[in-house]
Amino acid sequence: MRSTEFNWFRTFLEQQSGIIISEDKLYLVQSRLKPLLRQHQISDLNQLAKHIKYHASSDISQQAIDAMTTNETLFFRDQYPYDALETLVFPELSHAKGISSPIHIWSAAASRGQEAYSIAIAANESIAQAQKRVRILGTDLSPTAIAYAKAAIYSQMEVQRGMPVTRLVRFFSQQGTHWHVAKDIKNMVQFETANLTEDKLVSQVRRFGPFDVVFLRNVLIYFSAEERKKVIDRIARSMRKGGYLITGATETPEGLNSKWEAVLFKGKRLWKLQ
Ligand SMILES: C[S@@+](CC[C@H](N)C(=O)[O-])C[C@H]1O[C@@H](n2cnc3c(N)ncnc32)[C@H](O)[C@@H]1O
Repeated sequence: MRSTEFNWFRTFLEQQSGIIISEDKLYLVQSRLKPLLRQHQISDLNQLAKHIKYHASSDISQQAIDAMTTNETLFFRDQYPYDALETLVFPELSHAKGISSPIHIWSAAASRGQEAYSIAIAANESIAQAQKRVRILGTDLSPTAIAYAKAAIYSQMEVQRGMPVTRLVRFFSQQGTHWHVAKDIKNMVQFETANLTEDKLVSQVRRFGPFDVVFLRNVLIYFSAEERKKVIDRIARSMRKGGYLITGATETPEGLNSKWEAVLFKGKRLWKLQ
C-alpha cells in the first residue's frame, strides 16, 4: 500500500469511527484489509483505498472499517467490575428503584457479547427476578461482532477465558464443541450496532435507557482526547443521575469533569454521575 493511500485511509477511518492508527501501523492495516481483496476481487490495496474513497458508504467501505476494529474481549474481564455490581451497584439500585422499575444497563463497546452476558449472569446471581427487572443493551461499531454476540454461541476456548466452571454449567448448554448461552440469560440482552462517535448515538439508544449503569471498557484508548470527551458527554446524556460508568481498569478518560464523582472500589475507580 502506498503511503498516500495509507495516510488517506487513516484519516478516513478516524473520521468514520474515531479509531486512530499511528503512522507505523502500515503492516496492521495491510493484514486486516487483505482478506477483502479476494472477497471483492480487487487487485491490490491501493485500488481498495480508491474504491473506498469514491464509495464511502458502500458495503466494502463498511467492511474495511469493521476489519479495523479490535474485538479482543473475555467473560468477566478484570473481575472487579462484576464484584462491584454484585456488592455495591446492584444493592444500591435495587433499593433505590424498588421492585417495579427496571434496571437499565448498557455495554457500550460490547464486541462479541461476553461483557453483556457476564453482566446478565452477575445480575441473575444477585438480583431477585433479574430476568424481569434487568434490561441490558449491547452495542458495537462492528456488525460482525454484533452478529456473533446475537448468536450467543461460544467456543471452548472462549468460555475457558474467564468463565468459572460453575457458571458455565449453570448458564450455558453444551452442543458439540460449542457452548450456547441459556435462553433466560440471552433474553435479558439486546444487541445493536452503534457508533460511539456519532451524535445520533444519544437518540439511537434513548428507547433502551436512561441507563443506570454503563460499561465503556477498553475502547476509549483507540480515540483522540477530543473524541473521548465527546463520547463521555454522549454517555452522560444517556444516563440517569446517580448512575455508574465503568471504564477500563487503567482508563481515566478526559471529559470526566465535576459532573462525575469517583467511587473507589477495591482500589479501582468507578464513576458516578452527579
Ligand atoms: C477491545 S474491544 C473491548 C470489548 C469489551 N468492552 C471489553 O472490555 O472486553 C473494543 C471494541 O470497541 C469497538 N469500537 C471501536 N470503535 C468504536 C466506535 N466508534 N463505536 C462503537 N464501538 C467501537 C470495537 O469494535 C471493539 O469491539
